[in-house]
Amino acid sequence: MASLTIRKLDDAVKTYLRLRSAGNGRSVEEEVRVILGDLIQGHAEFPAPSPAAASPPAEAPARPAARALVHGLAHGLATGQAGVTLIIGGGIAAFKSLELIRRLKERHIDVRCVLTKAAQQFVTPLSASALAHERVYTDLFDPESEFDAGHIRLARDCDLIVVAPATADLMAKMAHGHADDLASAILLATNRPILLAPAMNPLMWNNAATRRNVLQLRRDGVIMIGPNAGEMAEANEAGVGRMAEAVEIAAAAVDILRPPQPRPLLGKRVLITAGPTHEPIDPVRYIANRSSGKQGFAIAAAARAAGADVTLVSGPVELRDPAGVTVIRVESARDMLHRVEAALPADIAIFAAAVADWRVANEGEQKLKKTSSGMPPLQLVENPDILATISKLTDKRPPLVIGFAAETEHLIENAKAKIARKGCDWIVANDVSPATGVMGGDRNTVHLLQREAEEINVDSIQVESWPVMTKEQVATELVARIAKSLGKNS
Ligand code: C5P
Repeated sequence: MASLTIRKLDDAVKTYLRLRSAGNGRSVEEEVRVILGDLIQGHAEFPAPSPAAASPPAEAPARPAARALVHGLAHGLATGQAGVTLIIGGGIAAFKSLELIRRLKERHIDVRCVLTKAAQQFVTPLSASALAHERVYTDLFDPESEFDAGHIRLARDCDLIVVAPATADLMAKMAHGHADDLASAILLATNRPILLAPAMNPLMWNNAATRRNVLQLRRDGVIMIGPNAGEMAEANEAGVGRMAEAVEIAAAAVDILRPPQPRPLLGKRVLITAGPTHEPIDPVRYIANRSSGKQGFAIAAAARAAGADVTLVSGPVELRDPAGVTVIRVESARDMLHRVEAALPADIAIFAAAVADWRVANEGEQKLKKTSSGMPPLQLVENPDILATISKLTDKRPPLVIGFAAETEHLIENAKAKIARKGCDWIVANDVSPATGVMGGDRNTVHLLQREAEEINVDSIQVESWPVMTKEQVATELVARIAKSLGKNS
């Protein structure tokens, strides 16, 4: 195999190759080999290497596609991957968009970046191109890409346009149909879905003009993720205005790009509880348990993916809100019951929370002190049983009520008794003995107990044992069962 030396490479090309090869952990020579290999094998417009093609054609035609590829314009859709045009607006959150490029690429999404003039004050085109492995676009009048109306290709040669950060100014331009720079021209010229990740100071986000623009954009079918609440870059400022995290934006992009899934729970209201509860002893101490909330959050995400309108009432957990789900965070069992009652009516209620059975009757108003007379007496009283309360409602009882039974012994027997005692329709029973690693872990082994009859007869309860699955798989399977049962009963 002949070796090839290319001299007089452009400085920009050299820098690009150096960064790209470092990013992929290859030598520059290996990287060039990969680029050439992809170029020759991956694109139909190049002759396939065959014995007959061993010698080049007398005159290699300068095909437009080849030229576009050299300029980094040939889109990755040629590889069967989805493609995103990522418009990076000018805000301090722009640095998070560099991470977003990585997160999208990890999900096998090709990314082509457009940086506004203001964005370049925060991130450089070079860093974006090194991560995207593509040249970056900045100028509406760029002779290299506009010779054939590149902004139209950037607007349409993709499956989705993501704007992150979407500044107040960019959103105002969009809402009013301006097209005086590359980003706004692309946004006006596109026929693809648009996902905005707004980021701005809370006062700007709450300003009447921004509120009007947000409303208009939503009416125009623009999808938004965030902004989240939190601290601002400005010292001592906090509120709603932080750009959603890169993983959240990537997940929302994947949701939009995914081919439409069957949505068997469309139009159904699903209410879910998750996580532990914290029962205060005094202002600084509480009684809690080891529940992570993962199973309940996974069910909320699966129900949402099936088209349901989901409300998740969660105790204190370290998990992000699942996209598209209304999340209500609570502390104690009593808070949880109030928020559950307020969220009714629902078609399906799933009680996955590990609610504390007891709370302290004499909660200290001040921090309890050590005394010479020994330990402070803690009197416990029983908490309301949320599952039983909702199962026994006469007017607002959801047609399908599902409880969980976390047991360390006599699993099935106890779970059957729980259906009878609490009056729910199904129980998802799981063994939470420490050896199973279920509490806080990512996997679960469950048994689904279903009573079909109106009257509770413990002997007629069906028990189905599922294999070990991830909590997401358990959630998807449970949602599929719910959809099936609704189909049967409708
Ligand atoms: O009685 P036990 O705690 O084992 O029951 C578990 C089921 O009851 C779970 O579905 C849990 O969410 C629910 N539960 C409840 N309120 C309580 C205790 C349990 O909703 N106070």
